[in-house]
Amino acid sequence: MRVFSCLLVVTTAITSAVAFDIPEGASISVPWRHKGRPYFGWNLKDKWGNSVEEDRHKITIRASEDDTDDISADFVWALEQAQNGGLVHLEEGKTYVIGKKIDLPVLNDVYIKLDGTLKFTDDIEYWQKNYFYYPFQKSITFMVWSGQDIRIYGKGTMDGNGQAWYDGFAGREILDADNTYYRPILFLTDNATNVDVEGITFLNSPCWTTFLVRTKDVSFDNVYIEAFSTNASALPKNTDGFDSLNVDGLTVTNTRVNVGDDCFSPKPNTTNIYVENLWCNGTHGVSMGSIGQYPGVLDYISNAYMKNITLLNGQNGARLKAWAGPQVGYGYISNITYENIYIENTDAPIVLDQCYFNINETTCAAYPSNVNITDVKFINVTGSSSGKEGGVVADLTCSPGATCSGIMLEGIDLTSPNGTSEIVCNNIQGDIGVPCVSGADA
Ligand SMILES: *[C@@H]1O[C@H](CO)[C@@H](O)[C@H](O)[C@H]1NC(C)=O
Ligand SMILES: *[C@@H]1O[C@H](CO)[C@@H](O)[C@H](O)[C@H]1NC(C)=O
Ligand SMILES: *[C@@H]1O[C@H](CO)[C@@H](O)[C@H](O)[C@H]1NC(C)=O
Ligand SMILES: *[C@@H]1O[C@H](CO)[C@@H](O)[C@H](O)[C@H]1NC(C)=O
Ligand SMILES: *[C@@H]1O[C@H](CO)[C@@H](O)[C@H](O)[C@H]1NC(C)=O
Ligand SMILES: *[C@@H]1O[C@H](CO)[C@@H](O)[C@H](O)[C@H]1NC(C)=O
Ligand SMILES: *[C@@H]1O[C@H](CO)[C@@H](O)[C@H](O)[C@H]1NC(C)=O
Ligand SMILES: *[C@@H]1O[C@H](CO)[C@@H](O)[C@H](O)[C@H]1NC(C)=O
Ligand SMILES: *[C@@H]1O[C@H](CO)[C@@H](O)[C@H](O)[C@H]1NC(C)=O
Ligand SMILES: *[C@@H]1O[C@H](CO)[C@@H](O)[C@H](O)[C@H]1NC(C)=O
Repeated sequence: MRVFSCLLVVTTAITSAVAFDIPEGASISVPWRHKGRPYFGWNLKDKWGNSVEEDRHKITIRASEDDTDDISADFVWALEQAQNGGLVHLEEGKTYVIGKKIDLPVLNDVYIKLDGTLKFTDDIEYWQKNYFYYPFQKSITFMVWSGQDIRIYGKGTMDGNGQAWYDGFAGREILDADNTYYRPILFLTDNATNVDVEGITFLNSPCWTTFLVRTKDVSFDNVYIEAFSTNASALPKNTDGFDSLNVDGLTVTNTRVNVGDDCFSPKPNTTNIYVENLWCNGTHGVSMGSIGQYPGVLDYISNAYMKNITLLNGQNGARLKAWAGPQVGYGYISNITYENIYIENTDAPIVLDQCYFNINETTCAAYPSNVNITDVKFINVTGSSSGKEGGVVADLTCSPGATCSGIMLEGIDLTSPNGTSEIVCNNIQGDIGVPCVSGADA
């Protein structure tokens, strides 16, 4: 078996033999036993039934010479060559710069082995005129990944080059109705099925780090997400780890997120969510939502299981959030389980908030949320709050416009530096499993 697999990895460069033009510095190689012959049908297969790395034709392209040396055309060429069973290798120690808005091909069975750095230019003026636009929260992105059986893996980095964006955005708010300072999302899938991302780092996204749209079965394993600024008066903003819209099947495992906004926050119409071994530092927590933002629109999040999550130094721990106000939508969040959650130095460890976004109590009471929240379990949530909310470690306040039922807390051991620990509940139907006080008494 050992000899056999050695033979499989031997590849032969055929660059001189191919009939079409190859960009300068690029190469294509094929596994030796496929050269000039049909596939034998005994290729090694991965879990999707596609060829494994050793059995794929491999494409490389030239690296960039500096941070403005755009290789986007070479990258598109490489992806086209890799269609239907190939692999694009972005090599270790090399940087590949994308400086143009490009249409990626609709991929079918393509591996991208990212060992080097795929980096976007920080030409703000260019990217604010050239982008892919999504009306949901006025999102823009550099490029859109679509198609099926896409695997992006390796030890490399997708670098959003965010510093100039952080400097430029300082003092602004993304959800301001008149904000037009759009910032690109680093990694966006749309109309995609079976996307696996493994091992890589997402660094310094200008805005959300990942946004999965109209996607089925997408998973992230062993990924690291970080956004930091070297300018103390311009911190990264809205650099969420994971956001989604109309997604069925979202899995995140063995991942660390070090950003100043949501760690993991599926948005409207996300179902069948599985998160395990997630570590979040300095974030706004693991949130279901926000949903219910757009007037007349039905949004939902259902069937989520979140297990073994560590949340440090953040605003929120485990949160459910829905919009209220005069012009909002409706919907439901249901069948959500948070289990084995460890929280430290966090302002609001457990939150059910239906007065999103920045709505004061008077407006929230006059125009309550219409998002029902049902069947939510918090099991074995331990640790401590920062004390910012006094002794309150859990605040579950349901809107008078909605139904909140089947909310169950079990094995909760959260302390506050204040010395007391209090669980607040308002308008929740039925027993929540632990003693709680209503907001008016808290
Ligand atoms: C989604 O992609 C498939 C091919 O993968 C295509 O046939 C279909 O038109 C695309 N749908 C949309 C809405 O773009
Ligand atoms: C830091 O950000 C502030 C706010 O945008 C900006 O005025 C300043 O020029 C930035 N500093 C540097 C060194 O870029
Ligand atoms: C829980 O997740 C942490 C990473 O945050 C990991 O180190 C640890 O091994 C996980 N525990 C279990 C039981 O899997
Ligand atoms: C966690 O985030 C804080 C800032 O919020 C930072 O100072 C600290 O270094 C981070 N810890 C780790 C282990 O990354
Ligand atoms: C969510 O799904 C519902 C029902 O299919 C649809 O009407 C609604 O537009 C979707 N929401 C968003 C934000 O796409
Ligand atoms: C609730 O979600 C879990 C996944 O976390 C799923 O296995 C289960 O079938 C769902 N229950 C219902 C009633 O849909
Ligand atoms: C919310 O719950 C109420 C009753 O509890 C129900 O009438 C309404 O249809 C539900 N709304 C949604 C969007 O599921
Ligand atoms: C509770 O969760 C912690 C991780 O936060 C884990 O170490 C511990 O084993 C869990 N306890 C039980 C009883 O499952
Ligand atoms: C609440 O917000 C509304 C709308 O922004 C504003 O008109 C009102 O004065 C605010 N009320 C209080 C008590 O702050
Ligand atoms: C602790 O918090 C409770 C409730 O939030 C408050 O009544 C009390 O004054 C606080 N105590 C201290 C010492 O801050």
